[in-house]
Amino acid sequence: MRTSIALALSFALLLVVSSSSGVYGDNKVPAKKDQDTSPDVPKLEPVIPGANTTTTSTTPASTTSTTTAKTSTTPASTTTPTPPAPTPAPKPTVGKWNLTQENETVLVQMAGQLVISYYNSTEDKNNLTEATITIPSQSNLTWVSGTINATDETIKISWNSSGNGNNSIQFSFHNNNKTYFLKKVDVSVDPADLPKRVPNTVLNLVHKEEHFNTTINKSYKCLRLQTFNLTTEAADPQVPVSHLKVSDLRFEAFKKSKSTDFSDAEDCAFDTPDIVPIAVGCVLAGLVVIVLVVYLISRRRSQARGYVSM
Ligand SMILES: *[C@@H]1O[C@H](CO)[C@@H](O)[C@H](O)[C@H]1NC(C)=O
Ligand SMILES: *[C@@H]1O[C@H](CO)[C@@H](O)[C@H](O)[C@H]1NC(C)=O
Ligand SMILES: *[C@@H]1O[C@H](CO)[C@@H](O)[C@H](O)[C@H]1NC(C)=O
Ligand SMILES: *[C@@H]1O[C@H](CO)[C@@H](O)[C@H](O)[C@H]1NC(C)=O
Ligand SMILES: *[C@@H]1O[C@H](CO)[C@@H](O)[C@H](O)[C@H]1NC(C)=O
Ligand SMILES: *[C@@H]1O[C@H](CO)[C@@H](O)[C@H](O)[C@H]1NC(C)=O
Ligand SMILES: *[C@@H]1O[C@H](CO)[C@@H](O)[C@H](O)[C@H]1NC(C)=O
Ligand SMILES: *[C@@H]1O[C@H](CO)[C@@H](O)[C@H](O)[C@H]1NC(C)=O
Ligand SMILES: *[C@@H]1O[C@H](CO)[C@@H](O)[C@H](O)[C@H]1NC(C)=O
Ligand SMILES: *[C@@H]1O[C@H](CO)[C@@H](O)[C@H](O)[C@H]1NC(C)=O
Ligand SMILES: *[C@@H]1O[C@H](CO)[C@@H](O)[C@H](O)[C@H]1NC(C)=O
Ligand SMILES: *[C@@H]1O[C@H](CO)[C@@H](O)[C@H](O)[C@H]1NC(C)=O
Repeated sequence: MRTSIALALSFALLLVVSSSSGVYGDNKVPAKKDQDTSPDVPKLEPVIPGANTTTTSTTPASTTSTTTAKTSTTPASTTTPTPPAPTPAPKPTVGKWNLTQENETVLVQMAGQLVISYYNSTEDKNNLTEATITIPSQSNLTWVSGTINATDETIKISWNSSGNGNNSIQFSFHNNNKTYFLKKVDVSVDPADLPKRVPNTVLNLVHKEEHFNTTINKSYKCLRLQTFNLTTEAADPQVPVSHLKVSDLRFEAFKKSKSTDFSDAEDCAFDTPDIVPIAVGCVLAGLVVIVLVVYLISRRRSQARGYVSM
């Protein structure tokens, strides 16, 4: 009888704990600040490929084939250098860029990669080709330009394509007086980095959605991998959706100083309000279970002792 009462009690306790943790979670949800969790930025698994890159600084252009084989058999064969076309794109490493004009600074830090989808034939729409372009992190491989005014700031990071052209990615920020946010991302890819693309012209893509509402004089920080859809400005259905993959993202715009150090961060880790209450609930539930088990065992023992003493 006693044990059944104890069991019933334990169930009641568990129910109370689980429901209370649920309420806690519900209460925390409105704390969600902005449209950071908009549908196009899917909550990806916490495995961040870029997170590993802080250790390695792989030089992307280090694939110069100096493989002059010492085998002195057929010198004629060296005249056919097979192009190393499908070299796997290097893992993106974290780079940091600044635009400084007068007393105002825009800062961007990220490990970024463009995954460009395109057709290599006008007829065959089933044949989608993909090119992965890693944004170089070394400052001597990129150059920065942009515009600064009271309400709008842009920072454009450019780098040489594999041909004679430029690739670029531009972030536009808008100032709301108390907050600022990322308004738009523009991407431009040189045809030299899109082999056999039809048509063989510069591809301009855009991600035109507002993200990351951030307090002025703070920076925004998000380490996890995020994926942004890139389409043409006119959202041409003939042009497949490409993606910008970014991790270790940190930015600050409308910074009223020449300093290239980030101000205090507003971290997207705190935008996922479910984790804390769930963890608290689990710990509480675990504690209750342990206490109950201990209680039941001690109960059994004392009962057993009772029988012996009788
Ligand atoms: C992003 O692209 C994927 C695949 O094309 C699509 O399913 C999704 O709806 C797009 N998201 C947005 C916000 O456009
Ligand atoms: C990070 O690197 C370690 C060893 O260098 C490897 O075991 C692990 O899988 C890597 N993680 C990711 C997310 O790439
Ligand atoms: C970045 O900051 C450095 C140091 O403050 C400055 O010399 C340089 O001009 C800045 N770069 C740009 C593009 O404004
Ligand atoms: C820049 O800031 C310094 C000190 O904060 C100030 O003396 C100077 O007038 C400012 N210059 C401009 C162009 O705003
Ligand atoms: C892609 O196109 C080539 C020829 O243009 C064809 O042989 C191949 O089957 C196509 N692949 C797919 C998946 O449609
Ligand atoms: C287009 O790309 C597909 C997939 O990469 C490839 O199989 C096909 O041969 C390519 N077609 C042409 C005309 O290059
Ligand atoms: C860029 O700088 C790195 C060292 O930081 C150097 O090894 C590399 O050769 C430089 N690349 C160019 C193109 O200057
Ligand atoms: C880009 O290429 C041009 C010539 O093609 C060269 O003069 C310039 O230094 C390169 N810029 C960088 C950042 O590598
Ligand atoms: C700032 O620049 C944006 C876009 O470049 C423009 O629309 C806006 O009118 C400018 N504002 C001021 C105050 O110059
Ligand atoms: C690449 O960028 C440089 C510097 O911004 C510019 O002078 C050059 O005209 C650009 N080249 C192309 C092909 O757009
Ligand atoms: C920002 O403040 C200025 C004046 O301080 C005002 O004219 C403007 O409408 C405000 N903008 C927003 C978006 O609130
Ligand atoms: C950003 O947040 C502020 C207050 O936190 C709010 O007033 C503003 O409307 C938000 N802006 C956007 C674009 O969501």
